[in-house]
Amino acid sequence: MKILFFSAKPYDREFFTRHNAPYGFELEFLETHLGPHIVNAVAEGTPVVCVFVNDRLTDEVIGILAEKGVKIIALRCAGFNNVQLETAKQHGIRVCRVPAYSPEAVAEHTAAMILTLNRKTHKAYNRVREQNFALNGLLGFNLFGKTAGVIGTGKIGRAFCRIMLGFGCRVLAYDPYPDASLAATGVEYLPFEEVLKESDIISLHCPLTPENRYLINRETLGLAKKGMTLINTSRGGLVNTNDVIEGLKTGQIAYLGIDVYEQEENLFFKDLSGSIIEDDTIQRLMSFPNVLVTGHQAFFTEEALAQIAETTLGSVDQLMKGGEPSGEGIMLA
Ligand code: NAI
Repeated sequence: MKILFFSAKPYDREFFTRHNAPYGFELEFLETHLGPHIVNAVAEGTPVVCVFVNDRLTDEVIGILAEKGVKIIALRCAGFNNVQLETAKQHGIRVCRVPAYSPEAVAEHTAAMILTLNRKTHKAYNRVREQNFALNGLLGFNLFGKTAGVIGTGKIGRAFCRIMLGFGCRVLAYDPYPDASLAATGVEYLPFEEVLKESDIISLHCPLTPENRYLINRETLGLAKKGMTLINTSRGGLVNTNDVIEGLKTGQIAYLGIDVYEQEENLFFKDLSGSIIEDDTIQRLMSFPNVLVTGHQAFFTEEALAQIAETTLGSVDQLMKGGEPSGEGIMLA
């Protein structure tokens, strides 16, 4: 039985092929995104398509997939804003996703961004390679004794709190649904504004919703400590990037680390090293010496990719046998 992959990168091929041994599915990998431009090329009788965050499963695309005989859309990611679920339901197409894959991967990348920024290891790396062993400009600050504010204490936020407690930080948190077991480990829940006011480092770990778009904006940044560190590994739309640039210029934000960016779909996961980037906002951000940008790589560990492949293939197997996915595979339609 064939699974047709879209937006497939070499690492998708490697991990899905490795974890396919017990299932023996026929795997076909296409580099192109799935969208109206390519959907007609899907062969009749393809039972499963496997897609990622930037594939576009519009009403039209799903209608054509249904005509071709597609029975399952397997999302190899957590987010599903790119799939018209109602349309899939109407066509009787099942949709599954991978809601959690190594929250520690994202939490550890968040910590890596903080440690890079506060000890300037990205600069030291380049400097030493040029035989410049001077320390001027590399002055950092201790994490021990600082206050870290965590916005959202779900799976990733909790893992991040544990790391920051380990550094000897005071850890404050805001979440509309506080976790009593986390509070018992020493994390103090406070209202959002209080967390902003008291924290030296703010890290975002909540999902993007219509209500919290631009949660970090000129006004909320005004409440924060001058010289704070802001880290966003969650979703680009949580911060108003222009207001953040203003905050960097005034020194309100001393350090910024982002793994996500509101307009990332035009940039991330692509090698644009030979291209002219037209997005002036990201170019401005990257021009600051105290800003670190990574291209949505926080999840990108061996462990997370193994879990994504295992969960996705396991869900497809269960569904093809007429069952429902167990464990981490979650049905959306
Ligand atoms: P989760 O669903 O386990 O936890 C989210 C938490 O945020 C919940 O406790 C919820 O109550 C809380 N929350 C919701 N709205 C909030 C608000 N306005 N303010 C404060 N808290 C709020 O999600 P998980 O697995 O911890 O993931 C968090 C986010 O991390 C995801 O939504 C996704 O955007 C991002 N992510 C980023 C990845 C990357 O590679 N950079 C990979 C995976 C997830």
